[in-house]
Amino acid sequence: MRSRIAIFASGSGSNAEQIMLHFKQHAQIEVVLILSNNVNAFVLERAKKFNVPSQVFNRQQFKETGEVLNWLLGEKITHIVLAGFMWLMPSSIVQIYPNKIINIHPALLPKFGGKGMFGHHVHEAVKASGEKETGITIHLVNEKYDEGKILFQASCTVEKNDSSDQIAAKVHELEYKYYPDQIEKWIGK
Ligand code: GRF
Repeated sequence: MRSRIAIFASGSGSNAEQIMLHFKQHAQIEVVLILSNNVNAFVLERAKKFNVPSQVFNRQQFKETGEVLNWLLGEKITHIVLAGFMWLMPSSIVQIYPNKIINIHPALLPKFGGKGMFGHHVHEAVKASGEKETGITIHLVNEKYDEGKILFQASCTVEKNDSSDQIAAKVHELEYKYYPDQIEKWIGK
């Protein structure tokens, strides 16, 4: 059976783009839907470029009315990929997709995770802490922020003079290099 991915993203979507690119010609795995809570998210433009349909939703549709879940079921989505998605997955979705939701976090969990630790906040916290390395963590998603089973980590160095933007750039490189491949491995299991 072909696997059908929905990607949730709230912002730029550069990871979503790498994932769409990776699976464009894939025989068994297809990105069929981009979902965003942000009508201005650049990920929606990227979806158009790849001819992938997209849907924008609000908190009520996501957490209360079950509309987003119905879209997923209607599209026969088999796997959910979070790529810079800012809201916590409601338990209604997590329960229907056990071990079928994956996320990437831009640091080496369990450090620098949890509520409020997203985007530039993570890289600023890493810089402020004086850590000598940071990286990425690819993990399964449960009902708590950043606490699902860790599937993969990769690290990079943090130099004393690196700005948080420079740290972010190094981390993004790791994300592009590993996330699409790790998604493919996870789906193949
Ligand atoms: C990435 O660093 C990802 O790890 C984090 O949010 C960022 C999203 O970047 N969860 P983009 O939207 O994929 O460019």
